[in-house]
Amino acid sequence: MQIVKHINELRLVVNGKRKEGLSIGLVPTMGALHQGHLSLVEQAGEQTGFVVVSIFVNPTQFNDKGDLERYPRNLQKDIDFLTQSSCGLIFAPDADEIYPEPDTRQFDFGQLEQVMEGKFRLGHFNGVAQVVSRLFEIVEPDKAFFGMKDFQQMTIIKEMVRKLNLPVEIVSCPIIREADGMAMSSRNTLLSPDERRNAVVISATLFEAVNKTGQLSVEELCNWVIERINENEYLNTEYFEIVNADTLLAVNNWDEPCIKVGCIAVHCGKIRLIDNVMFETIIY
Ligand code: PAJ
Repeated sequence: MQIVKHINELRLVVNGKRKEGLSIGLVPTMGALHQGHLSLVEQAGEQTGFVVVSIFVNPTQFNDKGDLERYPRNLQKDIDFLTQSSCGLIFAPDADEIYPEPDTRQFDFGQLEQVMEGKFRLGHFNGVAQVVSRLFEIVEPDKAFFGMKDFQQMTIIKEMVRKLNLPVEIVSCPIIREADGMAMSSRNTLLSPDERRNAVVISATLFEAVNKTGQLSVEELCNWVIERINENEYLNTEYFEIVNADTLLAVNNWDEPCIKVGCIAVHCGKIRLIDNVMFETIIY
């Protein structure tokens, strides 16, 4: 496994692999790697000939300075973590390699960026689109791998690829969870032991909600989830919405013919956590 910081070094390696006839897979990350990231790397290893993992804490997607400063960084630990994986090359650039000059591009994803994360984290998805499009220009991957943990991000990246006709296939990968059900996240390491014990209520409530489908209306179920989570003194729900998985618009009735996903953001102390769960579509 090679580790490079500069675009020209990356191109040398990746172009060589392409000449050997290998397809290129890209897994963009912000580091502090865990089994969720690893599942993307292994999926990339199965579907492509050479896997590039980027590790870059992208400043343009952080709307909260404290969140950017707190974000866990440990490149050596990440390198060790990937040593036995399908990763062929780690690209760990500094900010001026990705942004030699300020990136002023403005993307328009319409309603997809106006709801949920987009509503509460202004400018977040513009920053994500800036960095992911830069990474696509630099690496020119055949396939790029994203987790359903960040459901709205995945939807927006697919939309960016469609709109800009980028020659890359986006592969979405399932959420990997801890043994107790909590979605794995780099931010989980920032929780105190007490916060971590209580944060499991988020996923547990989502799973319970799936079992209540049809017993309550969509609105009643949304209120039930929010009340249930907010009963816990460590947790404060920012939003919970059941949305159409394609349009991300709120669903009003269970019989709407679409895939439904329940997306949530919860503050646990200073840390903001997100998760989501798929609901069965019930056609009456
Ligand atoms: P990061 O939070 O590091 O996540 C990198 C990738 O890992 C994303 O596609 C995310 O959805 C996926 N991932 C994280 N936790 C997961 C889990 N528990 N199960 C499955 N997949 C999981 O998302 C970002 O970084 C950034 O926004 C990025 C796309 C790299 C742009 O900066």
